[in-house]
Amino acid sequence: MRHEGRTAVITGAAGGIGRAYALRLAAEGAAVAVLDRADGSPVVKEILDAGGRAIAVQADLTDPASVVAAQAEITEQLGTADILVNNAGMYPNRPFETMTFEEWRAVFTLNTDALFHTAKAFVPGMRERGWGRIVNMTSNSVGLVIPGFTHYVASKMAAIGFTRGLATDLADAGITVNAIAPSLVRTATTEAGPAEFFEIVPQLQAIRQVQVPEDLTGMLSFLVSDDAAFITGQTMYVDGGLVRS
Ligand SMILES: NC(=O)c1ccc[n+]([C@@H]2O[C@H](COP(=O)([O-])OP(=O)(O)OC[C@H]3O[C@@H](n4cnc5c(N)ncnc54)[C@H](O)[C@@H]3O)[C@@H](O)[C@H]2O)c1
Repeated sequence: MRHEGRTAVITGAAGGIGRAYALRLAAEGAAVAVLDRADGSPVVKEILDAGGRAIAVQADLTDPASVVAAQAEITEQLGTADILVNNAGMYPNRPFETMTFEEWRAVFTLNTDALFHTAKAFVPGMRERGWGRIVNMTSNSVGLVIPGFTHYVASKMAAIGFTRGLATDLADAGITVNAIAPSLVRTATTEAGPAEFFEIVPQLQAIRQVQVPEDLTGMLSFLVSDDAAFITGQTMYVDGGLVRS
């Protein structure tokens, strides 16, 4: 029960990697807010059935007012958030030459701008407490070239820059900020994408297996624990040894 007494907000937790994060932190004692544009109640039910504590809050993370409303609801129901996991993201595959500016902006609005909105909403409570953990999801695609991801790679590099800058600004408040970079992870969304990625990417990893969401949960649990108090501004590659940094 490593996270007993903590409240964790996990964005994009209605499915995929976020769902695995929510289940893991809840299993280790955290009260979890499943914050998603989609309905997170099936994940909440899984947590409650296992004896944990969770609520589902629906919000559009690209809308600052929606994030502010979600923060108020979470605080009212679960108290001040100690842990913020910025997991929601999108990764449409599109060659640069057919990409529109609207598509470029849509990716940045969720993968980068939303990190600003959630940090603005949840950092004040952490600062008041003098303890906080923020984890941002980036991708090992920042260190590898896969065609059709100019917008995505640029937005996930921005997430790394945001992680470093925020870590610096919040260190005096006992708040750490780190990032996790997975490889290609099997989720409903990646399964709906180009099938050849599942042939190509695992072969580039040292561990040549297709990554699953549960491969990432140990790192998340560590980063948001007291054990990781002296680690901040870092990007952790949990990618089967593809990027050897
Ligand atoms: N799956 C992979 O292969 C992979 C690899 C590297 C990095 N990542 C990153 O990990 C994170 C999770 O990936 P995933 O595959 O689990 O994604 P996913 O598509 O399965 O889930 C994303 C979640 O975000 C939610 N969401 C989307 N837009 C939203 C919005 N505007 N407001 C609120 N919620 C919104 C969706 O409803 C969904 O539940 C993303 O940041 C992604 O870029 C994924």
